[in-house]
Amino acid sequence: MNPALAFSQVNKTYALAGNGSRYALREVCFAVAAGQKIAIVGRSGSGKSTLLHLAAGIDVPTTGEVWVEGRELGRLSEGERTLFRRHEVGLIFQFFHLLSHLSVGDNVALPAMIAGEHGEAAEARVVELLERVGLADRRRDPVQQLSGGEMQRVAICRALLRRPRLLLADEPTGNLDDENGRRVMDLLLSLADDEGAALLFVTHSQEFARLADQVWELHSGELVAGTEG
Ligand SMILES: Nc1ncnc2c1ncn2[C@@H]1O[C@H](COP(=O)(O)OP(=O)(O)OP(=O)(O)O)[C@@H](O)[C@H]1O
Ligand SMILES: [Mg+2]
Repeated sequence: MNPALAFSQVNKTYALAGNGSRYALREVCFAVAAGQKIAIVGRSGSGKSTLLHLAAGIDVPTTGEVWVEGRELGRLSEGERTLFRRHEVGLIFQFFHLLSHLSVGDNVALPAMIAGEHGEAAEARVVELLERVGLADRRRDPVQQLSGGEMQRVAICRALLRRPRLLLADEPTGNLDDENGRRVMDLLLSLADDEGAALLFVTHSQEFARLADQVWELHSGELVAGTEG
């Protein structure tokens, strides 16, 4: 079976303002199996977000290959990569990225609306997910009335709506207090389990990193061999 995600000798460099370039990722190689959970740790600027952006097809490597479910993203056009991302990847960010003028339910339903999917199946999926995170009764409330922890739970539902095989979370608890962070992490891990999705999450918390199957550390763009979580 194809890995959920694989990097083959991925380098990512950014041009510097003068001349020359800076490595954000250097010769990164790995494979993540379906359902596997990986914590990515490392200092600020070590390349964690860059790795997730390449995995999501938001950006492309300078050299090397990124494979998701047996497809090499470098062979897709930008439009195809956008469609791929909507279908195959669930993204969760530190600052939630919800649309504040929409209701809780509409925020979760957004990926289906963009894909032109309406109707009962989509509705039922929204309710199912909101029930799972304990927010079904807030479905019609404006999302801006929610607390930070609640907003992140909504963002997790949105990410899962279309049943992606790959979940990517960039410091999902970075803007939450300990208690809410723990709740969000627990939900993220158990929902990834329920859905059989692979999960890569960036965290600065050793406690949360230990919840993963493996912990990988980035050192100045180099991936240090993973330690078991
Ligand atoms: N668009 C860009 N242009 C130029 N340099 C960039 C760009 N994006 C990232 N970088 C550089 O690449 C390196 C890795 O950045 P990245 O955002 O991946 O780090 P990070 O590990 O996520 O850090 P943090 O923990 O602070 O979020 C940094 O040196 C950063 O300055
Ligand atoms: Mg980052």
